[in-house]
Amino acid sequence: MSALIELKGVTKTYGSFTALSDVTMSLSDTNPSMTAIAGESGSGKTTLARILLGFINPSVGEVFYRGKDIAKMSSAEQRQFRREVQPVFQDPFEVFNPFYRIDHVLTTPVKRYRLADSEAKARSLIEDALKRVGLRPQDTLGRFPHELSGGQRQRVMVARAVLLRPRMIVADEPVSMVDASLRATILDELRTLNRELGISIIYITHDLTTAFQICDNILVLYRGAIAEAGAVERVIGAPRHPYSQLLVSSIPLPDLDRAWGNEEIPVSEANSSRPNAGCRFAPRCPHVMDQCWQSAPPKYMPDSQRLASCFLYRDSPIAPDEDVSAVFRLPGVAPVVVGG
Ligand SMILES: Nc1ncnc2c1ncn2[C@@H]1O[C@H](COP(=O)(O)OP(=O)(O)O)[C@@H](O)[C@H]1O
Ligand SMILES: [Mg+2]
Repeated sequence: MSALIELKGVTKTYGSFTALSDVTMSLSDTNPSMTAIAGESGSGKTTLARILLGFINPSVGEVFYRGKDIAKMSSAEQRQFRREVQPVFQDPFEVFNPFYRIDHVLTTPVKRYRLADSEAKARSLIEDALKRVGLRPQDTLGRFPHELSGGQRQRVMVARAVLLRPRMIVADEPVSMVDASLRATILDELRTLNRELGISIIYITHDLTTAFQICDNILVLYRGAIAEAGAVERVIGAPRHPYSQLLVSSIPLPDLDRAWGNEEIPVSEANSSRPNAGCRFAPRCPHVMDQCWQSAPPKYMPDSQRLASCFLYRDSPIAPDEDVSAVFRLPGVAPVVVGG
């Protein structure tokens, strides 16, 4: 399997603070998938997104895009990487210049990457991209950002990404500022882009319900470290790491809007003051054992399509090279059976 993007032992520190710890993963180039990155606020999701986009460099580890170390690319390779890996941010309003018509964010990339050799060709590319995301060009072009709804602005941003014919879109909480009524539609559109155009999608969210609905695989972060990862049917359908179990059990399923990570998991005084050189989740873990305070757990594979960084599974094999993608399901391959 050739990798579209590959992270090897990626750690990001800010001073003495570790925002992201030892992430090894890759996405298939030949089977474009949708991967969720989930975790409560501050767990390192945006840090991981920015590393995948090449916006920041890891403190330790490497990032390869189609076999090339992104820190060592030539400027031509960098330019191609910048076009092929597109961001979609949480709050599109911040991205728009209020004084420019919507058209500006669409014509700029067409010019920058010389996607069209005539005005007419540019116009038709832009119109196609808008239609792809469910926008009517005649209702969208010529308007100012404040004349569109949050959902429409976010769609314009997705259209902008699509325009560049990317191989990968990294969407960081793309619908958290969008009306609840529109969220499902926009997420469905992302899934359509994945399935029809073969764009790999990283969907960053704190919402497990939508991750379950649209993604193939998921990676759950706890304070910068991977707690559990694998096929969504496994990780969300039947979580094994005590942290993911807590998250899943705290979501009343019909309530799509309920954010998680808001309820504090109580930490006893004894646990919070105990020296901890081991699992980050130990102080909050209902199953904590002596071993958990001593060293960080490796990534065990309790089954073939999930791994859990937890000593409860110490009798299971360790994932090869601690690589999260060892347990990822490829779309187009029969889904796993929950509990299997
Ligand atoms: N530029 C930075 N300088 C210092 N700390 C940062 C910086 N960016 C992020 N952090 C810290 O890293 C942690 C993870 O942040 P982030 O990746 O934004 O998490 P998330 O997106 O999951 O909320 C947070 O504690 C945040 O304060
Ligand atoms: Mg974030």
